[in-house]
Amino acid sequence: MVNYKDLGLVNTREMFAKAVKGGYAIPAFNFNTMEQMQAIVMAAVETKSPVIMQVSKGARNYANGTILRNLAKGAVEYAKELGCPNPQIVLHLDHGDSFELCKDCIDNGFSSVMIDGSSLPYEENIKLTKKVVEYAHQFDVTVEAELGVLAGVEDEVSAAESHYTKPEEVVDFATRTGCDSLAISIGTSHGAHKFTPEQCTKVNGVLVPPPLAFDVLHEIEKKLPGFPIVLHGSSSVPQEEVETINKYGGKLEAAIGIPEEQLREASKSAVCKINIDSDSRLAMTAAIRKYLAENPSHFDPRQYLKPARENMKKMYIHKIVNVLGSDNKL
Ligand code: G3H
Ligand code: 13P
Ligand code: ZN
Repeated sequence: MVNYKDLGLVNTREMFAKAVKGGYAIPAFNFNTMEQMQAIVMAAVETKSPVIMQVSKGARNYANGTILRNLAKGAVEYAKELGCPNPQIVLHLDHGDSFELCKDCIDNGFSSVMIDGSSLPYEENIKLTKKVVEYAHQFDVTVEAELGVLAGVEDEVSAAESHYTKPEEVVDFATRTGCDSLAISIGTSHGAHKFTPEQCTKVNGVLVPPPLAFDVLHEIEKKLPGFPIVLHGSSSVPQEEVETINKYGGKLEAAIGIPEEQLREASKSAVCKINIDSDSRLAMTAAIRKYLAENPSHFDPRQYLKPARENMKKMYIHKIVNVLGSDNKL
């Protein structure tokens, strides 16, 4: 048994309470590699922001759970080395799909877990979530649950269509499960293809997707005042990264994300955790493709991973400062 407190990590309770009150959101960045971890820590330290480093089931399969946990431990020590004496770093399981997976993470140094029962019938989602909460809370690990289904397809997370969260269910769900935060569906979705061009309107040559369902969000806020709300699928899919990828041999067609102004608006509400993964993938891939195209004779991974790390760091800082507003909140 490895307790997260011994690794210098924190759970989400206090940071969410402050974020809801302060009208900002904590960034939840997925990581699979050392370079992503380094970029996240450098960005969080430079901006003095709390940060959630999250690991999916796919990330555990790719990189190994023990290695990722030790990268998170290293992240705390690295933040201190970079001049941040008391970093607030959460190690979170993203989209846990079983009690056993959540338990394994809780027993192995995670400070927060998500149990995603959103594809289950309502009563089964409650039963599973409650079981995870009862186990997690014994170790002061916080639990994110999900109600409503996001559209989009991304590796192990898939749902053909979106079903907005029903505001009339949230009080019953939060009370009966005892979850610490709730991921809701209001029109975001996973991956780099969140909308088809047909769903968008063309304004000055730019495709603008339909707005998020802020009415649903505000109804949920009214029903659960001050309760931490989470938005998944919140990458904005920067078009300059898509263009770089395509310019240097990639083929990403009609990649469209959530406009940043809408995420800025959501951050000011009870939304206190915003999940971003695809934008990091795009930033990394764009930098690597450009570097290798411009330097065809280079083959040392450090040569192309360095600009990739720099590009991700720039993106993380931009999100923290200009979109989520979590800078200077340590
Ligand atoms: O929401 C899903 C995350 O982007 C993780 O994706 O399962 O491919 O690691 P992954
Ligand atoms: P994106 O695919 O929009 O980055 O969403 C990531 C996410 O929700 C991780 O859980
Ligand atoms: Zn997600």
